[in-house]
Amino acid sequence: MNVDDAINFDDLRILAKKRLPKIIYDFIEGGVDDEDGLDRNENAFRRRPLMPRYMVDISERDQSQPLFGRQYSSPFGIAPTGGISNYRWGGDLMLAEAAREANIPFIMSGAATASMEDLAKVAPEHGWYQLYVAQDRSISEDMIRRAADLNLSTLVVTVDVPTGSNRERNRRNGFGRPLKLSLASKLDALRRPLWMKDYMRHGIAKLPNWAPYAPEGADANMLGEFVSSQIRGSLNWNDIENFRKLWPRKMVLKGVMRTDDAIRAAEIGVDGLMVSNHGARQLDRAPSPLDLLPSINAAVGDRMTLMLDGGVRRGSDVLIALCMGAKFIFLGRPTLYGVVAGGVAGASKAASILRNEIDLVMAQIGVTSLDQLGPDFVHWDEDELRRNMPRR
Ligand SMILES: Cc1cc2nc3c(=O)[nH]c(=O)nc-3n(C[C@H](O)[C@H](O)[C@H](O)COP(=O)(O)O)c2cc1C
Repeated sequence: MNVDDAINFDDLRILAKKRLPKIIYDFIEGGVDDEDGLDRNENAFRRRPLMPRYMVDISERDQSQPLFGRQYSSPFGIAPTGGISNYRWGGDLMLAEAAREANIPFIMSGAATASMEDLAKVAPEHGWYQLYVAQDRSISEDMIRRAADLNLSTLVVTVDVPTGSNRERNRRNGFGRPLKLSLASKLDALRRPLWMKDYMRHGIAKLPNWAPYAPEGADANMLGEFVSSQIRGSLNWNDIENFRKLWPRKMVLKGVMRTDDAIRAAEIGVDGLMVSNHGARQLDRAPSPLDLLPSINAAVGDRMTLMLDGGVRRGSDVLIALCMGAKFIFLGRPTLYGVVAGGVAGASKAASILRNEIDLVMAQIGVTSLDQLGPDFVHWDEDELRRNMPRR
């Protein structure tokens, strides 16, 4: 099988798994502690069946969706993921290119292995930037200034990494800085020649957005250490207020789960929230983003744009999230699997798989444009209906 033969995200995952050493695959795929959160995120969608409306003429369908003043071709985008060149060299910009071609947003990670300056060249209108806030706030302020000068449209501030998390797969595999490869890991890597070729040619990837602030001449490991030491700990609401003043365009907080935090963000003038639990990579006992959506929608849905990521694996999932109050959804692992498996073509394949599934399910449920979706298209049990019917 190659990416042309892949018919769903799971096929792309299997292809990516074949290309990657276990230590890297586990880093991407894994969660924390018991990894319950991974299942919880995906199962939340399975518990919300769609309610089809029949006897509707669905011969013409349009899945384009406006977001922050721009019309995208589909209601999904690519979530920020760090370290991509360690999975496939050049992967950040490959994803950016695929996003530009599909006319969907791509969020460059605060731990990206390409620079925001290059992003602005490859996908000037589709590239957003995700900020990991540095202990030294002058670094973050300078990053915000750079992104603003590059005319990037949207700043996403990730708020759900107060500290590192207990990723047991990584600990068992010796994934860390510096990499401590067991003999078994080394032998496993040798059996992945395509990945090995990248690694032999380029080594560990640098995080170039941070290079101007790190000690001069820092190699990839030193730069990685520097970034890890900077992005933990002290982010607070004063920072968000300050960033709001500094950033001239749309600003999103990623990782908000509580309604009180959502309301505070709205009061500060934040434009949107990414309801997210970081793909179940931070707090294993966190609720699924989908389950949080109704209450957050009830609290701030009339004032802020709500987006969601975590566990979206099918076109149906996208539509379910839209029915429950999200305007847009984002993908973390699935698009990574696409790019690892097949570069730009693989990332484009991931986008087209989801696009086709959305189109088909729209037809199945009797919807010809996304503004027709609402809570009446998902199945609620009676108690929930009384308690919790979300606003559109
Ligand atoms: C390998 C990997 C790296 C990630 N790196 C970041 C990051 O740098 N910044 C961030 O805000 N979120 C990061 N995330 C979380 C994603 O943005 C997103 O919230 C999550 O992957 C969505 O869940 P999904 O993988 O089920 O789609 C990362 C996720 C993965 C899988």
